[in-house]
Amino acid sequence: MSLDAIKTVAVLGAGTMGNGIAHVFARAGYHVILRDVDQRFLDRGMETISKNLDREVKKGKLADADKPAVLGRINATTDQAKLATADFAVEAVPERLDLKLSVLREADSLLRPGVILASNTSSISVTTLAAATKRPEQFIGMHFMNPVPVMTLVEVIRAIQTNDTTFATTIALCEKLEKKPVAANDAPGFVSNRVLMPMINEAAFCVMEGVATAEAVDTVMKLGMNHPMGPLELADFIGLDVCVDILDVLYKGFGDSKYRACPLLRKLVAAGWLGRKSGRGFYKYA
Ligand SMILES: NC(=O)c1ccc[n+]([C@@H]2O[C@H](COP(=O)([O-])OP(=O)(O)OC[C@H]3O[C@@H](n4cnc5c(N)ncnc54)[C@H](O)[C@@H]3O)[C@@H](O)[C@H]2O)c1
Repeated sequence: MSLDAIKTVAVLGAGTMGNGIAHVFARAGYHVILRDVDQRFLDRGMETISKNLDREVKKGKLADADKPAVLGRINATTDQAKLATADFAVEAVPERLDLKLSVLREADSLLRPGVILASNTSSISVTTLAAATKRPEQFIGMHFMNPVPVMTLVEVIRAIQTNDTTFATTIALCEKLEKKPVAANDAPGFVSNRVLMPMINEAAFCVMEGVATAEAVDTVMKLGMNHPMGPLELADFIGLDVCVDILDVLYKGFGDSKYRACPLLRKLVAAGWLGRKSGRGFYKYA
């Protein structure tokens, strides 16, 4: 499907990433079918979109009068039959292979032939996901960053099966969203997590070995390397459980011990100290 033919975009999953993805498509003028399994997840997603749009109005990024129009372009639904009207689809359901495979197979059977199906996976092989569908050439990774309305990057990941038209259309679509697409080929962790996670892991080793405190490690990276956030603050923001899961993907995918997750990370996860979302990780949150 060509870029100009894309008017309606389906987003599967209205969670952290899905509502952000729906937000940026609707803001760019696309009609969005936002699908989740339960009305309360849709309500929560729409509430988040509304709050984030208010923030954009305050910052002068969006005219106050445009907010209702953006919200009006999003059709939040539990009815998956609506996928049949989509011209492009992005999957953003939880990072579990079995769940992704079943959601993608279902979407594949409902979407019209030729419609591109993208996954926002952060660590699962895009090639494996593509192979589960009957449209592997029209399958691609579209890795948005959190929070989606704020972060400019989209890592666009080609599965080995992805054809050139699918790739070119996806890149052009990211530009329509005023995002900066960066191309990568499918490999464990793509570029973002392959580079980021070993840094977070090494920072955790520094704390575990008593080289420095979490605050000190973060300060070194912020003031010395000009990172806006220290690696451990960032790990708390991402979720320490998510970090361990991604490190395990890298470790398994490459079979290289340099990706083994730091025992301190595993210990914090075992304690339920998952970072910001649980109120405690490397830091305590009110
Ligand atoms: N959170 C991040 O920082 C981040 C960053 C980049 C990529 N990702 C990736 O994005 C994806 C989604 O992550 P998230 O953090 O938004 O998860 P989340 O748990 O916040 O949201 C997932 C949503 O999917 C819904 N869902 C479950 N089954 C479904 C189904 N069958 N059909 C439709 N919806 C269904 C859930 O109800 C939930 O609302 C994952 O693949 C994750 O790895 C996450």
